[in-house]
Amino acid sequence: MHLVDSDGAKLKAALTRIARDVDAVFDALLPVPEDTRAPLVEAMRYSAMDGGKRVRPLLLISTAEMLGVSRDPALRAACAVESIHVYSLIHDDLPCMDDDDLRRGRPTTHKAFDEATAVLAGDSLHALAFEILTDEETTSDPFTQAELVRCLATASGMSGMAGGQMMDMAAESSEYDLRTITRLQQLKTGALLAASVEMGAILGKLPPEGRTPLRAYARDIGLAFQIADDLLDVEGDEQKAGKALRKDDGQGKQTFVSLMGIEGARNQARALVDQAIGHLGQYGEDAAVLRALARYIVERDR
Ligand code: IPE
Ligand code: IPE
Ligand code: MG
Ligand code: MG
Ligand code: MG
Repeated sequence: MHLVDSDGAKLKAALTRIARDVDAVFDALLPVPEDTRAPLVEAMRYSAMDGGKRVRPLLLISTAEMLGVSRDPALRAACAVESIHVYSLIHDDLPCMDDDDLRRGRPTTHKAFDEATAVLAGDSLHALAFEILTDEETTSDPFTQAELVRCLATASGMSGMAGGQMMDMAAESSEYDLRTITRLQQLKTGALLAASVEMGAILGKLPPEGRTPLRAYARDIGLAFQIADDLLDVEGDEQKAGKALRKDDGQGKQTFVSLMGIEGARNQARALVDQAIGHLGQYGEDAAVLRALARYIVERDR
């Protein structure tokens, strides 16, 4: 119990610190130009800064720190993943997708600006991620750069987030079984969370054969994370979540909750978190934040 409390305190401090640090990096990377591109960059800043739980950045940086990587390069790589995540949220909220008006407690990007600007802000954040990863300040080792780029690209495209989003759209008109829902969630949400851990391991120069426990951890929390999001959609408080809830059912989305019921989904998420924490055994006290983050992922209210 004592251990759990001290892990929780470490997590709280780590979440506060990463939120501040991610904002500072985006602020430096996104100066507003004095020409007609200004609204594009303002929309990127609006979407990327001052909001979100920053779970992916914290996953990356905690994995990297556990493996002895210094904070600055890990923070930059963390902002690359967050950049992809923010782009995915901007596009997810568009009228042609989930058609949402509220995100992170504020109007969605296409509401605050307009649809064309939102699409381009998403495109530009997508590109920004790879600019960050191939900058010397992140790593001067070309092999590490290439590995980071490949990892994030794979997690973002048809074999990752975008592929999962396509399956999610198709779920509105097809019947999926539990296996297919699991695959959908692993791509839509799990892939970027797993990439966050993997990129920490890449920066830490951990050889692929040494990454098995971390990959198992990432896979379990990835699934648990989306189950928690689906549970929030059913039972959450919109004010706290900062986004419209109770939409999945009406939009015909199939989720773990629609297939397993609330209790079944919650039990599944908790079991996945216990399993995830079990994979971190060899890292002992160094994995305190990763353990607490796994618990937070299912206990969160936003
Ligand atoms: C929301 O992600 C979209 C999903 C992938 C479920 P988060 O819950 O991480 O959203 P933010 O970044 O905290 O706003
Ligand atoms: C979106 O999933 C996942 C992304 C890849 C952006 P959801 O559509 O369930 O996310 P929310 O509920 O809008 O945050
Ligand atoms: Mg969606
Ligand atoms: Mg959505
Ligand atoms: Mg959702």
